[in-house]
Amino acid sequence: MEQFKRNILITGGAGFIGSNLVRLFVNRYPEYRIVNLDVLTYAGNLENLKDVENRPNYVFVKADICDYERMAQIFAEYDIDGVIHLAAESHVDRSIKDPFTFARTNVMGTLSLLQAAKEQWKEEGRAYRFYHVSTDEVYGALQMDGTFFTEKTKYDPHSPYSASKASSDHFVRAFHDTYGLPTVISNCSNNYGPYQFPEKLIPLFINNIRHGRPLPVYGKGENVRDWLYVEDHARAIDVIFHNGKDGDTYNIGGFNEWKNIDLIKVMISVVDRLLGNPEGHSLGLITYVKDRAGHDLRYAIDSTKLHEELGWEPSLQFEEGIEKTVKWYLDHQEWMDRVTSGDYMAYYENMYKDR
Ligand code: NAD
Ligand code: DAU
Repeated sequence: MEQFKRNILITGGAGFIGSNLVRLFVNRYPEYRIVNLDVLTYAGNLENLKDVENRPNYVFVKADICDYERMAQIFAEYDIDGVIHLAAESHVDRSIKDPFTFARTNVMGTLSLLQAAKEQWKEEGRAYRFYHVSTDEVYGALQMDGTFFTEKTKYDPHSPYSASKASSDHFVRAFHDTYGLPTVISNCSNNYGPYQFPEKLIPLFINNIRHGRPLPVYGKGENVRDWLYVEDHARAIDVIFHNGKDGDTYNIGGFNEWKNIDLIKVMISVVDRLLGNPEGHSLGLITYVKDRAGHDLRYAIDSTKLHEELGWEPSLQFEEGIEKTVKWYLDHQEWMDRVTSGDYMAYYENMYKDR
């Protein structure tokens, strides 16, 4: 068997951020074996990784992170020495309807991975890294007062999603402090870009504008989110994975706050222009609907530490990023149709059922 310099397990690699990260690592580090572990929920799609699936340094394993025995077996089989953990239930609206699934995957799944990693690391006594990818939502909500979340902001999650992510962060720190497991955590702001499942604001609205469907704006559209292009997040993860300090936390964000309604108007304008519609053509699709329960007013990340200590900064201005993103979704209508129809799940389930 070919010897690799490192064997890195990326969980949730068939999802939005995971697939962008797997692509970056497979291409940038041919000397590493990248093991993509994903159970392929509705949000996981191997079609996102078609361009790298035959690379010699890439392996896909279909497995559930909650299955501890299976995790222990996979860590041993692939001789894992680094974990980048992204697998999660990630949509706030779903967490409001079904909090148990979020506790199971995000809390128990993370615990099961931590335990498998700890057992393997302890036995082999070698260099190791367990990197947990988390969210800015664990910090709660900011007022419209120009303040930011820093790494020292107290945790104050409000949704079942953010409560489950906060809990998983606490478990990661507990494994570092109690057992000495070399861990690192990052908390990132809202991501946008290719391969995001169209339940989230940006791909959902691009698709709806294209089809002339209503754009359901929660409340008054005044909530603020801080948007980062997904490939910039992947680059930050790369930098932190390789150079971050054990036991430390890094915030990731691009200082790019947008009120939802303003962002929606930008999307409308870009989609209309690219489709050849007159300016303002789709503004009438905006439909104000009942607000999300417990809707956090504002998120804003201060990523100064990551910049000053590890030299990371975003590469894309928002105007460029949103243009690229709209173009990507308009050019990948078949991808959009397949993920909204669920066909890909049946297709890939057959393809991988014997692994
Ligand atoms: P996503 O929903 O697109 O993908 C999640 C992936 O995890 C899917 O491929 C899914 O199949 C897999 N998965 C779910 N349950 C699993 C299980 N039990 N076992 C194995 N695999 C499982 O999510 P995303 O938006 O790419 O987010 C990835 C990570 O980044 C999450 O941990 C999320 O909390 C965090 N994050 C997301 C954002 C964002 O804006 N999307 C921002 C900050 C942090
Ligand atoms: O901040 C990081 C988080 O960003 C991640 O941890 C989550 O995984 C990710 O889903 C995202 O959470 P949000 O709840 O901020 O993203 P979402 O795209 O669901 O919503 C963005 C904003 O748009 C939010 O204020 C709610 C609003 N919204 C969303 C949808 C889907 C609408 O007004 N209408 C909608 O239909």
